[in-house]
Amino acid sequence: MTDIRVNDKTFEPYLTVEEINGQVQRLAAEINRDYKGKRPLFIPILNGSFMFASDLFKAISIDAEICFIKLASYKGTKSTGQVVTAIGLDIDIHNRHVIIVEDIVDTGKTLSEFLPQLNHQQPASLELAVLLHKPDATEYPTHIKYLGFSIPNKFVLGYGLDYDGLGRNIPEIYQLKEH
Ligand code: IMP
Repeated sequence: MTDIRVNDKTFEPYLTVEEINGQVQRLAAEINRDYKGKRPLFIPILNGSFMFASDLFKAISIDAEICFIKLASYKGTKSTGQVVTAIGLDIDIHNRHVIIVEDIVDTGKTLSEFLPQLNHQQPASLELAVLLHKPDATEYPTHIKYLGFSIPNKFVLGYGLDYDGLGRNIPEIYQLKEH
């Protein structure tokens, strides 16, 4: 694998297809074990998580459902600040075992705003399956039960993650090269 250029930035190889797949299979095995008979509902957050969600879901061998959503944020009142709403959540999550699927947790802000809203609908349980976590960037900590990789605070792309709209189709994960 060699460096790639996307727009004005250079990225170097970081995680191979095999390394990613190894973690995805491990997470799926843990979920298969933990959720047997519970018919979990996977809720991947678009766009970034589509590739991770697809590979993870293919490795799920127990009965399970999936419902992709997109988050839209808009300015709320002064007291509520930024409000995040889910578009496409057409399944009632009350009493369901929900697994949110995210590509990356960076500051953690997105999930910190969204998870309380889901909890409000009283799911039977609510856990996170996240491929990448940047602990050094996290300002809003959330418990990630199923985590693929803990990574340094550097921008990454590929495997669903983009830089300025590009790079989502790359099967590996690349890291921003800093000089
Ligand atoms: P957070 O709310 O700061 O945790 O941001 C989460 C979202 O920011 C992710 O779902 C990604 O869409 C985006 N993001 C954060 N870090 C990266 C990165 O290194 N590469 C690509 N997208 C990123």
